Amino acid sequence: MRLLTAAVATVAMTLGAQFAAAAPIEIKFSHVVAENTPKGKMAVRFKELVEERLDGKVTVSVFPNSQLFGDNKVLEAMLLGDVQMAAPSLSKFQKYTTQLQVFDLPFLFKDMAAVDRFQQSETGQELLNSLRKKGLVGLGYLHNGMKQMSANTPLRVPADAAGKKFRIMTSDVLQAQFEELDAVPLKKPFSEVFTLLQTKAIDGAENPWSNIYSKKFHEVQPYITETNHGVLDYMVVTSAEFWNGLDDDVRAEVKKALDEAIAYGNQISGEQAAADRQAIIDSGRSEVIEITEAERQQWVDAMKPVWKQFEDEIGADLIEAALKANEG
Ligand code: LMR
Repeated sequence: MRLLTAAVATVAMTLGAQFAAAAPIEIKFSHVVAENTPKGKMAVRFKELVEERLDGKVTVSVFPNSQLFGDNKVLEAMLLGDVQMAAPSLSKFQKYTTQLQVFDLPFLFKDMAAVDRFQQSETGQELLNSLRKKGLVGLGYLHNGMKQMSANTPLRVPADAAGKKFRIMTSDVLQAQFEELDAVPLKKPFSEVFTLLQTKAIDGAENPWSNIYSKKFHEVQPYITETNHGVLDYMVVTSAEFWNGLDDDVRAEVKKALDEAIAYGNQISGEQAAADRQAIIDSGRSEVIEITEAERQQWVDAMKPVWKQFEDEIGADLIEAALKANEG
């Protein structure tokens, strides 16, 4: 009888272990933008690829539009194991490293191709490890695009921005950038931007085309100036604890799926920016102001002192390496 009980117990334990092994690993992917953006589309593609290839072993749940966490909370939540992946903009890592602030320096990159070259360079790839000490792993860069200035009055030259309140992401570089214009920068979560603009609690903002269009900012901002003054890109991140806890073969498959999803997101980001820019113009809700070369130079001259201000924090070598990427 005792033997039988032991045998039953063994079978039960084996079944239990098998059941535990069969329970899928869930990756919650949290982000703040809409689904019809490069990040939204990339996250859905990642889910499809993972679930197709790791059928039953890994599932991915995507939470767009700040449904699960805003970007200011998501990294803390990741370290607590409440979410496994996110792709905050590079402007939102300041609490974890000052090196990524290089991406916020105004007028540093001449275009998105230069941004891409820097990200793929040895220095850019090393920056993916800049969060390691804080328990986060950078898995890759994802493009959105260049930022444009919008406001409820036309902004042609820097003096037009003076005294106006602008929403910014949580970045001291961006704060300094608007202070150089004698404007008033306010750090606010992305989820609040539309209401802040609509109620005129703030006067303006800086966003890439896809964020303006997908969140309807153009409906509450009658003027958008095509400044292309800075970049808004992302780092896809996970926690070291989660990542290292995956079996090697699973981790490799997940990484492969992510790399492919990122390549897809990066490939469509340029077309999306152009299409959304055109859709904004076609909507007739907002005037897109194209500035002359002389006007652009005024913005450069006004904002560029920020580079010197942050040179020590970011590192002169890093700024130099980023500038090299403009050479092609
Ligand atoms: C913002 O807060 O403006 C952006 O970081 C949103 C995003 O994820 O593109």
